[in-house]
Amino acid sequence: RRPAGAPDASLARKVTKVGVVGAGLMASQMALLFARRLQVPVVLTDLDQARLDKGVSYVHAEVDKLAGKGRVSPDQANRLKALVTGSLTKDAFADADFVIEAVFEDLTVKKQVFAEVEAVVRADCVLATNTSSLSVTAMGEDLAHPERLVGFHFFNPVAVMPLLEIVRGGATDDATLATAFAVGKALKKSSVLVKDAPAFVVNRLLTRFMGEVIGAVDEGTPLEAAEHALDRLGLPMTPFALLQLVGPAVGLHVAETLHEAFPDRFGVSANLAKLVAAGKPGVYRPDFSLDEE
Ligand code: CAA
Repeated sequence: RRPAGAPDASLARKVTKVGVVGAGLMASQMALLFARRLQVPVVLTDLDQARLDKGVSYVHAEVDKLAGKGRVSPDQANRLKALVTGSLTKDAFADADFVIEAVFEDLTVKKQVFAEVEAVVRADCVLATNTSSLSVTAMGEDLAHPERLVGFHFFNPVAVMPLLEIVRGGATDDATLATAFAVGKALKKSSVLVKDAPAFVVNRLLTRFMGEVIGAVDEGTPLEAAEHALDRLGLPMTPFALLQLVGPAVGLHVAETLHEAFPDRFGVSANLAKLVAAGKPGVYRPDFSLDEE
C-alpha cells in the first residue's frame, strides 16, 4: 500500500551508490543500514581522518556483531565491510544517486555542506537531510536545484527504530519524494510523510514529554523518583536513558528550536542548558551541581 501522501513509486530513481556526510554515530549507523539493505557502495565523508576511521571502525564492529549473531554470513560480512568506505573529499560523491547529511544540527553548517555536495554531484542526485528539527525549505534556499532536497529523518538507534520521517520541503519535487519513499522501503523502515514544520511530528511529542519530566526534576522532584514513577508505564527505556541515547546536546537543540517557534508551548530547561554548556557528556544529574567534579 502506498504511504499517505507518497507520490507514484514509478517516479523513483534507482539508487546504486550512497554518500553520507559526517561519520559520527548516527551517520555510521545509517551507512551500515544503506549498505546492508541496498547492497550498494556507501561513502562516508568527514573533516579529518580520525573521525572517518572511527566511523568506518564502528561499521566494521557492528558487522562483526551481526555475523556473531548469525544475522549475516561471513561472506556477507566481508562484502558489507568492503561496501562502506571513507573519503576526506566529497568528490567521492560524483557518481552517487543519494547523498544524506548527518552533521552538526545548525542551518548554516548544513547549507554549507549541501553547497559543497551540489558542486560535485550529478544533476539527478537526491540530497537528503537527517535534520531532526530544522526547516528543509530553508536548508534548500541557496541550492541551484532545491527540488531534489528532501528530509529523511531517522531515529536512534537507527538499526532498530522502524520509523522514518520523510519531509517534503517547499521545493521538493515528486521524483525526489518518490525516491525517498523507495529508499525508505528498501531500508525496511516505516515511512511517514510529515510537514516541513519545526521538529516535524515525533520530536515535538518527545520534546513535550521529555520537557515535562525534566521540568519536574528541575522543580525539585528527585531524578530517581521521576524515573521510577514512569518506568512501570511500559516505556521501552526510561526518560533519562533516552536523553542519554539521543544526546543531551541534541535534545537541548530541539527544545530550543521548538521554544523559538512556539514559545507558549515549549520551554527550555535552564539546568539542561547549563549541563550541555559545561560540556558534561554524562547523564542529567539529580542536583545539577556543576561544581561537583
Ligand atoms: N545499535 C544497533 N542495534 C542495537 C542498538 C544500537 N545502538 N541498541 C540496541 N540494539 C539492538 C540489540 O542488538 C538487540 O538486537 P537483537 O534482538 O538482534 O539482539 C535489539 O536492538 C534489542 O536490544 P536490547 O535487547 O539490548 O534492549 P531493548 O529490548 O531494551 O531495546 C531499544 C533497546 C530498542 C533501544 C529500546 O530501549 C527502545 O526502543 N528505546 C526507545 C528508543 C527511542 O525512543 N528512540 C527515539 C529517540 S528520538 C530520536 O532519535 C529523534 C531525534 O531526532 C533526536
